[in-house]
Amino acid sequence: MIIAMDGPAASGKGTLAERVASHHGLPHLDTGLLYRAVGRDALVRGVDLDDAEATAEVAAKLAFAMLEDPELRTAGAGEAASRVARHPQVRAVLLQYQRDFAKGDRGAVLDGRDIGTVVCPEADVKLFVTATPEVRAARRFLELSARGIAVTEEAVLADIRVRDERDSTRGVAPLLQAPDAALLDTTNLSIDAAFRAALDLIEAATSRAGRAG
Ligand code: CDP
Repeated sequence: MIIAMDGPAASGKGTLAERVASHHGLPHLDTGLLYRAVGRDALVRGVDLDDAEATAEVAAKLAFAMLEDPELRTAGAGEAASRVARHPQVRAVLLQYQRDFAKGDRGAVLDGRDIGTVVCPEADVKLFVTATPEVRAARRFLELSARGIAVTEEAVLADIRVRDERDSTRGVAPLLQAPDAALLDTTNLSIDAAFRAALDLIEAATSRAGRAG
């Protein structure tokens, strides 16, 4: 079973995807980490984030095993990720890795921006996870503060708005709810309630597919 979970920054899709994957015994890929790693590597090597060809070369050399670096979770890496993610050349390099991951024996859970629309349009289940920008900023602020990263909630909200706008308006694979994706608005849900809602939506989608034959 392939489960695609897309949504804007800090919507909770990463945490949900992790819990859904462990519940169903499936491997999980946080595809945002791939873009974050390309952004980080480009910055480290002094590569211009607006240079499509040069950042695609960085993507081609990405060490896929090295996605555990806590540095990847910072706001700076998120901003760099969303800048390199605009380049079709960068996305093309990362596409095959994501598809290969999804096509493992048991299937997988992938979360990102374009999983249900571009990476796995044939996914068995598609969820679009969202929440208001203010609630997403409040959650991300708590998450970063808990890790000892000094930020203000206003700065986090501003970063989220910039990335939402850039991710939604780019020419290639923009952030978009697939027509066949179920919407999960977590604005007023605790993480446990959102998890139960996600399981219910997955159950509904798979039993619908079963009935269809
Ligand atoms: O955790 P958060 O939602 O803040 O960000 P992320 O999922 O780690 O993604 C970081 C950035 O990578 C996003 O702002 C997108 O620009 C880009 N991204 C993408 O273009 N396509 C994906 N499938 C995943 C992430």
